[in-house]
Amino acid sequence: MFNPAKIRRIAVNTGGGDAPGLNAVIRAVTLAALERGWEVWGSRHGYRGLLDLTQLVPLTASEVRGITHLGGSILGTANKSDPFEYPTKTPEGAKLVDVSDQIVRNFRARELDALICIGGDGSLRIAHKFVEKGIPVVGVPKTIDNDLSGTVVTFGFDTAVTTATEAIDKLHSTAEAHERVMVVEVMGRYAGWIALNSGLSGTADIILIPEIPFDLAKVCEAVMQREAAGKHFAIVVAAEGARPAGGQMMTRGPKEAGREVLLGGIGQHIAGEIARLTGKETRHLVLGHLQRGGGPTTFDRLLGLRFGAAAVRALAEGKVNVMIALDPPTVKTIPLSQAIERMKAVPLDCDSILTARSLGVCLGD
Ligand code: F6P
Repeated sequence: MFNPAKIRRIAVNTGGGDAPGLNAVIRAVTLAALERGWEVWGSRHGYRGLLDLTQLVPLTASEVRGITHLGGSILGTANKSDPFEYPTKTPEGAKLVDVSDQIVRNFRARELDALICIGGDGSLRIAHKFVEKGIPVVGVPKTIDNDLSGTVVTFGFDTAVTTATEAIDKLHSTAEAHERVMVVEVMGRYAGWIALNSGLSGTADIILIPEIPFDLAKVCEAVMQREAAGKHFAIVVAAEGARPAGGQMMTRGPKEAGREVLLGGIGQHIAGEIARLTGKETRHLVLGHLQRGGGPTTFDRLLGLRFGAAAVRALAEGKVNVMIALDPPTVKTIPLSQAIERMKAVPLDCDSILTARSLGVCLGD
């Protein structure tokens, strides 16, 4: 039975792809825990610090000073170090080895009372497996993709959308000057949140998301309708997971062991097809990791700080094996198992989809 009165020492880690706002969470976790008289240890690069204890570092007020506005993670992150399938060099070559029991032993040897895991679906899934091994966990929802269930939004998403919107804004003038079609591929994995929100805000003409498989004929029709109306350019925003009706998502290279397959290439493909089918000069652009880089927006800073402080409050109230979630105007906890149950896709009847349709944006269907 978890007894919050006995908490003396907690660990925190950041796992998966980085997202702007990670440092704000780390700062809030550290200061809120220190304020309660707890020690805080940072596990560098996901779980690496709990496997190799030289990578488990004490976090004090000075370590987290002046980091709220910084991108990246002062602890580093990892998306290829699942402890249940840990890439390990063995005499027989590289193998995936389950090192989770060693992590549990180290956790106990260091007399850690709980782990605050800042991560997306992959990292929180791993955290949930540690819950099953008896480690008390509070998850903090992080991902630019905004695809975690149970929270209205994850931190990092607003920054990614802002970056993508700024890029789309800039493409307008060059697209118009050259009378071209510009196709921008944005991240988001299997969900279209970044494409939809940045496409709407950046006034794209066509927005393609995984939730609505597209018909190329409809996409080209939208381009040609603009042409006929005297608008000789068009902006297409394509989520990396967008796919044609009846087709597959495009991937970059083969799936690496111990991690998700990487998506990408659909922007280039669509640009080629638009050029071929309409005769319009077309260029494509992949925004890529720019969307994860740089400092967090004010929204993400504040959300990160609120999430971090809420994670410590949850522990102090004895709430473990939960994830912090935004449910405006408050921040609440939900069972960790509920957060990882299913991916949060864009609902086809949501307000933003309806808005896009009302504004005459082509969604490819
Ligand atoms: O989950 C965040 C994310 O940026 C996705 O949008 C993208 O598909 C993936 O990570 C890229 O991963 P990597 O940083 O390994 O290229």
